[in-house]
Amino acid sequence: MSDPKPTYLRDYRPPAYRVTHTELTFDLDPAATRVKARLHLERHPERESGLPLTLDGERLVLKAIAIDGQPLEEDEYALTEDGLTVHRVPERFLLDTEVEIAPEANTALEGLYQSGGMYCTQCEAEGFRRITYYPDRPDVMATFATTVIGDAKREPVLLSNGNPVERGELPGGRHFVTWEDPHPKPCYLFALVAGDLEKVEDRFTTMSGREVTLQIWVEAENLGKTDHAMASLKRAMTWDEQTYGREYDLDRFMIVAVNDFNMGAMENKGLNIFNSAAVLTHPHTATDAAFQRVEGIVAHEYFHNWSGNRVTCRDWFQLSLKEGFTVFRDQCFSADTNSAPVKRIEDVSFFRTAQFAEDAGPTAHPIRPDHYIEITNFYTLTIYEKGAEVVRMLRNLVGWEAFRRGSDRYFERFDGQAVTIEDFVGCMEEASGQDLSQFMRWYSQAGTPEIDAHGEYDYANAEYRLILRQRTPATPDQPDKLPLHIPIRLGLVGTKSGRDLPLTLDGESLGTDAVIHLREDEQEFVFTEVSEAPVPSLARGFSAPVKLRFPYGREDLAFLLANDSDGFNRWDAGQRLAMLALDDLIAAHRNGVEKVMDSRVVEAFRTLLSQDSDDKAVLAEMLTLPSEAYIAEQQPLVDVDAIHAARTFVKQSLAMALRDEFLAVFEANRSEAPYAPEPEQIAARSLKNVALSYLMAIEDEEGIELVQRQFAADHNMTDVRHALTLLVHSSRDDLAEPALRRFGEKWAHDPLVMDQWFSIQVTRPQPDALERVKFLMEHPAFSLKNPNKVRALIGAFAGQNRVNFHRADGEGYRLLADVVIELNRLNPEIAARIITPLTRWQRFDEARQALMKAELERIRAEELSPNVYEVVQKALA
Ligand code: TRP
Ligand code: ZN
Repeated sequence: MSDPKPTYLRDYRPPAYRVTHTELTFDLDPAATRVKARLHLERHPERESGLPLTLDGERLVLKAIAIDGQPLEEDEYALTEDGLTVHRVPERFLLDTEVEIAPEANTALEGLYQSGGMYCTQCEAEGFRRITYYPDRPDVMATFATTVIGDAKREPVLLSNGNPVERGELPGGRHFVTWEDPHPKPCYLFALVAGDLEKVEDRFTTMSGREVTLQIWVEAENLGKTDHAMASLKRAMTWDEQTYGREYDLDRFMIVAVNDFNMGAMENKGLNIFNSAAVLTHPHTATDAAFQRVEGIVAHEYFHNWSGNRVTCRDWFQLSLKEGFTVFRDQCFSADTNSAPVKRIEDVSFFRTAQFAEDAGPTAHPIRPDHYIEITNFYTLTIYEKGAEVVRMLRNLVGWEAFRRGSDRYFERFDGQAVTIEDFVGCMEEASGQDLSQFMRWYSQAGTPEIDAHGEYDYANAEYRLILRQRTPATPDQPDKLPLHIPIRLGLVGTKSGRDLPLTLDGESLGTDAVIHLREDEQEFVFTEVSEAPVPSLARGFSAPVKLRFPYGREDLAFLLANDSDGFNRWDAGQRLAMLALDDLIAAHRNGVEKVMDSRVVEAFRTLLSQDSDDKAVLAEMLTLPSEAYIAEQQPLVDVDAIHAARTFVKQSLAMALRDEFLAVFEANRSEAPYAPEPEQIAARSLKNVALSYLMAIEDEEGIELVQRQFAADHNMTDVRHALTLLVHSSRDDLAEPALRRFGEKWAHDPLVMDQWFSIQVTRPQPDALERVKFLMEHPAFSLKNPNKVRALIGAFAGQNRVNFHRADGEGYRLLADVVIELNRLNPEIAARIITPLTRWQRFDEARQALMKAELERIRAEELSPNVYEVVQKALA
């Protein structure tokens, strides 16, 4: 194989020919499905006459080809590995092709494949070219008419996009259904599902009075697990009407659950296809976190109907246009539906751990990359989550009302079109009258900006001077960075009053909570009429996706933790305080010095535990120490053992010092009430379970007893799973083994619960974790062909079990490389994702670096898919 070549944004040109209407007929067969396509083509008005027609196509066996009914001679077209060229075509014409494909052999899960007994498709980003010859690019938008022919017994249900218009029986026990989708769409939104499925149905009346049928299609045994997704869907539909004025536009909206799926879910027009893990829930099988994830993903895919489908991307470089905006929309929806401060804390703590790491690693890229080899490698935290942070900054910069006007303008002006990020930001500029040209750099510059802040209070003049300096570190291909436009929301909290002080800047009064704009490398802001010495509360609500350093003392942080009016920054102050203590302990561990717990952290926790909190979920977050991954992100050189030891020490010290307090919180938040995934219950459960994990931290009789009782009570999966994790992650194998066995036997029939069972075991800190991974890879419930299983076992081990994955003997790295090599053949998309922890070698000591690089080299020596090739090349560059 020759090295795959990159595609560049600067090379974009409209297609030579566009498709106005697409007619498809699928005659389904596991080994030999026939796909007939009739494309209504015409020359693109911006392209010259006489160009050849080039269509994408991979792994297709061409059976017939004709233009305007005339079969082509062999010298009239050329076939290659990745497509078809017809040398001469008219200005407007019909192209008929027939190809054969083999869904049963499709382990990549792109295009048409089989999951269990059913057929399904995944076409984003470039899967449609594995179904038929087509201009597989998002700027070609066509209406579709699709006929699906299947076996009446094996595939009683035949689904595609849009509305069903015809159905009938055929000879030989076959039947067909024809679907029409009147909305022009790119082929990445095409979907087909066929199988023995059952449905749950509901109805929704849109704000203009349109009646919509809502269906969730699942295998029969999952019929009892769809209520929450259906309720979430209806809430999302109402929210998009009320918040963005957008309603649904077809007579039916379908969701299908499939077990084998590369990602969470897919927004195919009128026929969303979901990983079963992202749609099925039941109190006995799903945790609170899973319920909330399902709600968020159902909403996300639904919101794509406008942000992505009605208005789509001109090319894949614009991916964040639909994903950043849609993630922002689903985050706001979840915030409105649940606890807004907790949603923000969860999103930011995930972001600062995982996206910051991506930005600091060899695959760092801007929200709008300028080149790629394999686009599926760019469905990243940067495109999705940093993209959402940038849209959030836009909303904050122009204000909600202008943002909504801009969004209305965007949806109206570009309806049915494939557009660019400039088109979106342009609408916001027009609606607000603001100049967003410097802001656009957020889309082209990779890396996490670092802000160094310091401040001084001048008693004599009652002034507070805040100096901010920004710098974005070099990233691959981008050595030099320009200053960004960074909105900093802040308050000055008076040390005497504990209140936000009025802010006056350049003679202008800004209230007590304001946004200042950092645009230069360095800027000074002088606040006047500051009546008492303040502690600044900076970047409230994480007002920009940056690392902000300020020389806070521990007293300052304890003060903010107790007094900041911004809930998010109160939490952040607690995290910063814990980090200072952790830093000392990590150093102590490395130097072999005795560890001493910082009493200020203990006292801060005591205060938190003694207060009556109005938001228990926020309190639970405040009592949660930074994760090992987050701590690692803060270190110049990652010492996984020191981090683990330091964090464990803090946890145990807090547990010993505040035992009665944790016990009181635990008791006060226990409940026998029937399970409901409602915000209040979720909050109480999370607080209770945080307390329980401290009570178990020193593994004394009482803690063990409480955990075992919660496990045995078997009240709901959130509590059971938490208890099981505490037992399995303890040092007591005599407790872990029976609990694991009981849980595993009880849930052997449920693949989604078995995923949890796998993850819990392989994330235990005990030294047998790696051997367990190997052992469990032979378990009958495990399969390398199923992405959920790969993530639950391999992904969880490599991503979350830091001490064992980074074992000094390199066995963790070797295991991951072996899996990558095998997956490279089966499912390149998943192989290229699962490899991530190996690509972060620069962060570790020399011995580990060498071991990790050796494994990357071993992978590179294989015959690689473009997906894995691109990642490994960057990692070794
Ligand atoms: N567009 C999907 C989403 O955001 C993402 C997706 C689902 C995807 N399946 C995929 C992307 C396969 C690439 C490949 O919700
Ligand atoms: Zn999406």
